[in-house]
Amino acid sequence: MQQLQADFRDPRCAQPVDFTEYDASNQLVHSLEERGFAVVAMTQPGLPDAKLAALAAALRLGDPYVPALYRYPETNDYSASYSDIRSDTKDRHPGFSTTAGQAWHVDGLLDDIGDIKTTILYCVRAAHRGGDTLLFNSLAAFAELREKDSDAAEALLSPKALTRSSTIPAIDVNATGPVFAVDEAGDLITRYTDNETCTWNFSVGPPGGLHRALDFLRATSDDPRYRLAIRLAPGEALVFRNDRLSHGRQPYEDKPNAPRHLIRALYANVPTTPN
Ligand SMILES: [Fe+2]
Repeated sequence: MQQLQADFRDPRCAQPVDFTEYDASNQLVHSLEERGFAVVAMTQPGLPDAKLAALAAALRLGDPYVPALYRYPETNDYSASYSDIRSDTKDRHPGFSTTAGQAWHVDGLLDDIGDIKTTILYCVRAAHRGGDTLLFNSLAAFAELREKDSDAAEALLSPKALTRSSTIPAIDVNATGPVFAVDEAGDLITRYTDNETCTWNFSVGPPGGLHRALDFLRATSDDPRYRLAIRLAPGEALVFRNDRLSHGRQPYEDKPNAPRHLIRALYANVPTTPN
């Protein structure tokens, strides 16, 4: 997999692809395969929902996917195809509605590893200060760990390694699974998350393995080869492989009456093009 060799220090990584170019979708699919993500500029006039639909159609993503956590009556407020991510003191979603930073995670707390393959974040308005989306090439870090400490890597593959629990006040649900796995095609996939939703099972795998693995992932998530901060401008979207990268967010400050506003859409499919 090309992404295992990606170097996020390459300045081409964050360069937006112009969506109006004739081969934009090919460029995006190529970049997603090479690095796990791509930035696309969609500055033509139009409503955000229409642009998201056009982008999803160009990448053959199908319909947006509603995560398992949002299919309960208690969480129905969050079950829309497109989620507004902006500060809202009336809303109690721990991720969507605050200006706080977000630690490394993958989207889909209850969904099986690899189920949500693609996330799109479309920027309506950037934050006054901060608010960059952070990307961590957790697959490449895992591949490096496998070479250096196979016992530690083995612990991360255990199906009982990581339990994630909802922190939405209305609902008490959780899901247990591996941190990394190999899919049917033989490709690595990730569920690496390191935030308040996590309970680690240190009894899995070879003794001490999971502790060493976490130390390694926490250190490498600061390595500029593997970590990148993306600041989206209005009209730009970040498309990334949720099954191949972990992501987070810097804290941010809003200007009065001009809050940071992103729209998120999730898909169960991999971005592809007809040719
Ligand atoms: Fe997220």
